[in-house]
Amino acid sequence: MNNKKMQVKYRCPSNIALVKYWGKKEGGVQLPANASISWSLSDLFAETTMIASTEAGSKLTFTFKGESKPSFEPKILAFLERISEYSEFVKTHNFIIDTVNNFPHGTGIASSAAGFGALAMCIADLEGKYENDSVEFLERASFFARLGSGSACRSVYGKPSVWGEHPEIDNSSDLHAVPFEKGIHQSLSNWKDCVLIVDDGEKKVSSTAGHALLQNHPYATARFKNAQQNIVKITNYFQSGDVANFIALVESEALQLHSMMMSSIPYFTLIRPNTLAILEEIWSFREETHLPLAFTLDAGANVHLLYDKQYEIEVSNFINNKLLVYCKNGTYLCSNIGGTPHKIA
Ligand code: PMV
Repeated sequence: MNNKKMQVKYRCPSNIALVKYWGKKEGGVQLPANASISWSLSDLFAETTMIASTEAGSKLTFTFKGESKPSFEPKILAFLERISEYSEFVKTHNFIIDTVNNFPHGTGIASSAAGFGALAMCIADLEGKYENDSVEFLERASFFARLGSGSACRSVYGKPSVWGEHPEIDNSSDLHAVPFEKGIHQSLSNWKDCVLIVDDGEKKVSSTAGHALLQNHPYATARFKNAQQNIVKITNYFQSGDVANFIALVESEALQLHSMMMSSIPYFTLIRPNTLAILEEIWSFREETHLPLAFTLDAGANVHLLYDKQYEIEVSNFINNKLLVYCKNGTYLCSNIGGTPHKIA
């Protein structure tokens, strides 16, 4: 084998699920119990530089913003190990990886979707199996990303991204995400997400542990069935532009996610008093103004405030006047919706 060094750099956005993935199928690696759909967050991203070589040395040298981070290495090594099973390239190369997020570390924003998404794009690119704008390339990158963190597989597409088999989504798969190709009504095609940082600490219960608690959960079957139905509903709302029903569904999904946590055995909570205070403020504001805005939550206390961009000024005033007081150090981070990973020269 020639000793050859190859280098590539990718930027990959984070994503936020609208219909949530919470619970895995038994057997296999990271196969979702139900389909989920997400929006990508173009302004909250990871940038990863990867150098692959066949020179003798350690399998992985990892830095975060140029600084060594030994605590990240086991997770990335496990990820490379999983991918090796499907990629001769990964099996036969050593990697030097540097990653940086554009959002501050320790804000409680899940960086794994953007991070594993970017790593997966780099690997799929260096592997050189497919042209990097082909469907096959994106599916392969999404497949790799899933092996790092399930929800990361949805970060590969700029369009809303569906992961998990669903009879009404063409080409849907448990193995990788697919873009939602049916077109989005203009009333839902230009939204933003401001993430209100309520808690910036480590989660008390990891996503991995949370997913596992769905195995013997009293409401799991009903939840998975409802999520599958919600995929049909939300994709209909995307096409018809039914904003009111879209908002109701997205908020219900967020609260269902957290109710599943609260009704797991053992039970746990990730939302905090300030999370609920923000939700109450959002409901009051919407009742007063009738503006199209909704909240969603991921596995944590922070609130994603989703809104139609044309009301940016009103929402910005609302955040500053009413919500900032509930945010840790007054922190919130805003992003446009959409944004595809791309190669950086
Ligand atoms: O990808 P994981 O294992 O971190 O799970 C993420 C689960 C949620 O963020 C709560 C929901 C989702 O679909 O992204």
